Amino acid sequence: MRLTERIRYVGVNDMKTDLFERQWPLPYGVSYNSYLVVGEKVALIDTAAAGFSDELLANIRSEIGDRAVDYLVVNHMEPDHSALQVVIREQYPDCEIVTNAKAASMIEGYHGITDNVKVIKEGESLPLGGVSLQFFMVPMVHWPETMVSWCPEENTLFSGDAFGTFKAVGETINDSKSGTFEEYKDEMTRYYASIVGKYGGPVQAALKKLGGLEIKRICATHGPVWENSIPEVIALYDRLSRYDADHGVCLAFGSMYGNTRQAAMALAEAIRQRGIPCAVHDLTAENYSFALADVFKYDTVIIGSPTYNAGIFPPARLFMQGILDRTVKGRKFMAFGSFTWAAASVKLLNEMAEAAGFEILGEGLTFKQGYTEAKFDAQALAALV
Ligand code: FEO
Repeated sequence: MRLTERIRYVGVNDMKTDLFERQWPLPYGVSYNSYLVVGEKVALIDTAAAGFSDELLANIRSEIGDRAVDYLVVNHMEPDHSALQVVIREQYPDCEIVTNAKAASMIEGYHGITDNVKVIKEGESLPLGGVSLQFFMVPMVHWPETMVSWCPEENTLFSGDAFGTFKAVGETINDSKSGTFEEYKDEMTRYYASIVGKYGGPVQAALKKLGGLEIKRICATHGPVWENSIPEVIALYDRLSRYDADHGVCLAFGSMYGNTRQAAMALAEAIRQRGIPCAVHDLTAENYSFALADVFKYDTVIIGSPTYNAGIFPPARLFMQGILDRTVKGRKFMAFGSFTWAAASVKLLNEMAEAAGFEILGEGLTFKQGYTEAKFDAQALAALV
């Protein structure tokens, strides 16, 4: 796919993997994007995940025929992009790998490749004859070795995972179809929350570093090539990485026998009656990444959990730990849930929220045994949001 005469898309769509990183569901698939920069020399930027070698090589051949790939630029070493480095080397034996020192060490560790590796430094350029690439380090976006490649002649940023999203790419590859950003926005938020969410500070540092570039095209490692929605895409990543959020509620619950579930539904209804958006997630029925996306979207987190083994019901505990792991900041918090003989879950959830620095809205509410409206005053709780 020709993005310009000098920049070609050779990535692949993955519609068969069920869980990204064996954790995160892919209801709409995912793409592993690689690109060719074609001058007098040819550079391939990143590869793809294991299992896509035939497709990647066919895509490369359809763009450059029998010409060789002279350079393999390695922006990021997570195996969804680096798994086919050996395949590229076998196909193009003279191909020089171009990367930074940290990635070079990982290339040796993962693939045992040490020869014909050119180690570049911050700001260094690679001339390709009529076109070039310049490299900037963006550590922890998403691994410590991560860098981006900038093509000044095409005002194109090869941004690695930054600005990436779950959901496979469409036929046009780019966002030329109107509404593309809106179509991807939720999956971009879920991708950010799941994969990059812990690294808000490094994302902010990268945005600052790259802020002076006159970017006309963003070629990320996942999702569409951004040409028409660049301000929106950058604004979303900026907002997510500052943990900025709309006023609204992510209400996530786990329930064994339905009592905490009834309380969750009553509370969600009471919150919505007050005109406040409230997204509800059943943590026993769906992967917690969907709720996590709403933690990044809304300023209030409410978790429902019965007491289980004198603690938090495991699906709710896993979700709360997921929030803490991502060092989410500036949220308001409330907990509720049922117990049968000794209450613990609400107290323990509040302690975790306090450790995260969240503002605790009241003490939450725990109720004994079966749900009734008399035991669970949803209106009073909703009034605290
Ligand atoms: Fe898509 Fe961090 O790899």
